[in-house]
Amino acid sequence: MFNGKDKKQFRMIAKTLFGLEEILAQELIALGAQQVKPMNRSVEFYGDQQILYKANLWCRTAVRILKPIADFTAADENDLYKKVQRIKWGKYLSLNQTFAIDALTTKSKFDNSLYVAQKTKDAIADQFRDRTGKRPSVDLKRPDIRINIYIFHNDCTIALDSSGDPLFRRGYRTKTGKAPLHEVLAAGIVLQSDWDKKSTFVDAMCGSGTIVIEAALMARNIAPGLTRKRFGFMNWPDYDRSLFETICKKARRDIIPELDFDIVGSDINTTQIKEAAANADQAGLGRDIVFERCAMKDLEPPPPPGVLIINPPYGERITMEDINLFYEAIGDALKTSFTDYDAFVFTGNLAAAKHIGLRTSRRIEMYNGPIECRLLKFEMYKGSRKTKYQ
Ligand SMILES: C[S@@+](CC[C@H](N)C(=O)[O-])C[C@H]1O[C@@H](n2cnc3c(N)ncnc32)[C@H](O)[C@@H]1O
Repeated sequence: MFNGKDKKQFRMIAKTLFGLEEILAQELIALGAQQVKPMNRSVEFYGDQQILYKANLWCRTAVRILKPIADFTAADENDLYKKVQRIKWGKYLSLNQTFAIDALTTKSKFDNSLYVAQKTKDAIADQFRDRTGKRPSVDLKRPDIRINIYIFHNDCTIALDSSGDPLFRRGYRTKTGKAPLHEVLAAGIVLQSDWDKKSTFVDAMCGSGTIVIEAALMARNIAPGLTRKRFGFMNWPDYDRSLFETICKKARRDIIPELDFDIVGSDINTTQIKEAAANADQAGLGRDIVFERCAMKDLEPPPPPGVLIINPPYGERITMEDINLFYEAIGDALKTSFTDYDAFVFTGNLAAAKHIGLRTSRRIEMYNGPIECRLLKFEMYKGSRKTKYQ
């Protein structure tokens, strides 16, 4: 147990999406993180360098992993500037490295996060200039060191971003359809379904394939970060390359070589199916997922038990003539083709979802960007529940 005295242990914050905090907390506990505390769109935890690297490599539902380096209160912009200057930036950043600031403010009189980012950047650059006559350059796109400032009321936390590019950029998705899901959201949806990772899995509206790819990565125990080339922590002065390589080597050894059950992705659109197959190949899952072009009503899924997850059009980004009829047809297809499956529909069109016409056994609130969504569970059994479990 972390006792606060172990010098090698430090505080970290994993950022995530609304509704995935508990799942991310479980992922972190499984990696050995200590004092794991789910918060709003983030999880606080403690661990050492190894946990930091593992969290970046393994967490399917984390968007980034931050390492706080200073907490203080700031009365106004000048106070903020002064307190950022108190940090010894030479410990974290060198003159020949580029940097960028991400700022977020909540319920604060610092309501202009761009201005906060600029003040923080000035304080850091001025500290270097005062000491050496030179300053490191800013690179907003691909900085070597990404610094995060979060202000809640007047409380500021300055953190180093150990991930760099957000962790949902797994690197496998070179092609995206019209309305692709964020990889972290797709992984979160699969984890919310409690799928056992060893029985049939189907997405009958797979689009660019994100849900089936995330499911196959889980089933084969492939770390989602294993194909990424860059993490922010690789540019830190304390980067322990040999430790990270050892962690990656073990992750490669622990991959399950092949699956003995079906993962199926189907979609009505030919281009989407081609794109999904290309993405699966890119993720090294070409042999694990069967793709088929067909309408959901025509799909003949593998025999149950199994889990079906679909993310149908909401009728917003993709216009549908009659979205209600479309959702009614989903209900019909569930009844005819997916008996004895656990079926999940992830949608942002809550009104249309009522037209599925089946009783939900769970309703989980989630967000797809700004869109309020639900993950709806339908237990598709023949006859009574008693019969199924007898
Ligand atoms: C919101 S997108 C799915 C996005 C996907 N989750 C991803 O991450 O790329 C909805 C998909 O449903 C497909 N679709 C629409 N009507 C369909 C039908 N009747 N049967 C099968 N697929 C359908 C569309 O072609 C589209 O790819």
